[in-house]
Amino acid sequence: MAKKDLKPYPALFPNPALLVSCGSLERPNIITIAWSSTACLDPPMLTIAVTPSRYSYNLIVESKDFVVNIAEAGDVDKVDLCGNISGSDRDKFAECGYTPEKSKKVSSPRIRECPINIECYLDRTVHLGTHDLFIGQIVNVAVDEGLMGKDMKPDIGRIDTLVYAMGGYFKLGESIGSYGFSLKKGADR
Ligand SMILES: Cc1cc2nc3c(=O)[nH]c(=O)nc-3n(C[C@H](O)[C@H](O)[C@H](O)COP(=O)(O)O)c2cc1C
Repeated sequence: MAKKDLKPYPALFPNPALLVSCGSLERPNIITIAWSSTACLDPPMLTIAVTPSRYSYNLIVESKDFVVNIAEAGDVDKVDLCGNISGSDRDKFAECGYTPEKSKKVSSPRIRECPINIECYLDRTVHLGTHDLFIGQIVNVAVDEGLMGKDMKPDIGRIDTLVYAMGGYFKLGESIGSYGFSLKKGADR
């Protein structure tokens, strides 16, 4: 396979297109974030990469928390809008028709209409360059009861998962295996 070497850039894909809520119940904000990652199982941690000039950046630094809300593909227009206007002069909750809801553990509000809300304390900030990495400790995960599977995990087959890749929005495709399936006799999918 012949390869072309490109100038280094963040070529990793796909990423989830997430709605991160921050601020207060009285003055809530939402920022769309695609550069995120699961980081640690115990303690449960995730990261989001945020440019310091974003209005949301200081909201998160000041409150020391944020909420990662999983958006569905049907909300792609809202995800795109929240990533193209600033909460410094626009009320994104109102413009998207979203309801700011009191979170269980953090001061940042969560988005009622999103099926999964991951509440995080800001554990530490790693200054990188154009983006800083916010490392969040996950302190609560709220899941729409209608999505709960038998094993006390969300049944993500019932969520129309939104994916972001190379500047475009996509829906997650079909399931083609589960963790460890290749080790099972007959590779039962
Ligand atoms: C699909 C998408 C993904 C984005 N991902 C990020 C990201 O990972 N980090 C970031 O700092 N900005 C990201 N942005 C840009 C911010 O969402 C955008 O600048 C937003 O308007 C900032 O809002 P705020 O000023 O209210 O904080 C993304 C935008 C879009 C549309």
